[in-house]
Amino acid sequence: MASQREVILSIRDLRVHFNTSQGLVRAVDGVDLRVESGETMALVGESGSGKTVTALSVMRLVPMPPGKIVSGDIQFQGKALLNLTNREIMKKRGKDIAMIFQEPMSSLNPTLTVGEQIMEALRLHQGLGGKAALVKAVEMLELVRIPNPEQRAREYPHQLSGGMKQRVMIAMGLSCRPQLLIADEPTASLDVTIQAQILNLMKELRRQVGTTTLLITHSLGVVAEMADRVSVMYAGQIVEVAGACDIFHSPRHPYTRGLVGSISNLRDYARRLDVIPGAPPNPAKLPSGCRFNPRCPLADERCRAEEPTYVSVGEGKWVRCWRAGD
Ligand SMILES: Nc1ncnc2c1ncn2[C@@H]1O[C@H](COP(=O)(O)OP(=O)(O)OP(=O)(O)O)[C@@H](O)[C@H]1O
Ligand SMILES: [Mg+2]
Repeated sequence: MASQREVILSIRDLRVHFNTSQGLVRAVDGVDLRVESGETMALVGESGSGKTVTALSVMRLVPMPPGKIVSGDIQFQGKALLNLTNREIMKKRGKDIAMIFQEPMSSLNPTLTVGEQIMEALRLHQGLGGKAALVKAVEMLELVRIPNPEQRAREYPHQLSGGMKQRVMIAMGLSCRPQLLIADEPTASLDVTIQAQILNLMKELRRQVGTTTLLITHSLGVVAEMADRVSVMYAGQIVEVAGACDIFHSPRHPYTRGLVGSISNLRDYARRLDVIPGAPPNPAKLPSGCRFNPRCPLADERCRAEEPTYVSVGEGKWVRCWRAGD
């Protein structure tokens, strides 16, 4: 993955397992991921592939137990996040790394006004108090194009529509100007028109603020609209990394090819990646060899026996497949 840009986040061989009544769930099982300064890296894959658990690991918010970070290394601006004390990571959370969570409704506090919630983050991380924090909170609501921001700041989450709540989440995420923003399905719960508005807003903010973003999504439409590069996740691993154009025009992994080949309308943001015949493996009972082999039209003996390693298929392009050359 040769590149001139600074690598802001680098995850190496991350493994996060959960002890469940069904057995050991290897939710994240050897993830390698790099996000470069200024880019939007999309992390895309079917439901249950381990996208959220990967993000929660960076935030050090994996529930433990039942979860356990079994091994791996997460470097953020040259610091090993997994070695930080709770106090040190709390200082980074929200300030250097912010996350917009998958369920906006459950991550806004219903008992505080939206203004108070943004102010709380500003107090905590920027030491802004009183009037200055309020002014800044209103400014943030204005930045995410919320009409009547002074009035909205005094309202509670239940008084806002889904799209407005999502804007508030983005405002909170950006309020301390984080070096890295992790957005987990920032538009999935919204209807198509509002999704398009929020994506446009995120693009505009990116031009204005230039935040490095790890964007988690099910939707190839969102990828096409937003991403510079893409990491495709399957059953707890990254199976392909490439520039967004390459993902659409010359996908190399049979899984990526299946995903890309099946879409006719990239603007159909809501469409989920459930188009390849078969289902992802049960993470408590992974197949031997390549994890995709039971669904792969190209699978041969080797694919059923040996787990593939990464091969480079061009500059900045990696694929985890024995048949990538075919
Ligand atoms: N707290 C938990 N306890 C047990 N298993 C968990 C827990 N959190 C996640 N998992 C399991 O880890 C695997 C990966 O989950 P994760 O939420 O990362 O998927 P995802 O790719 O974000 O899916 P989606 O697209 O549906 O959000 C799943 O099999 C899930 O059931
Ligand atoms: Mg998720």
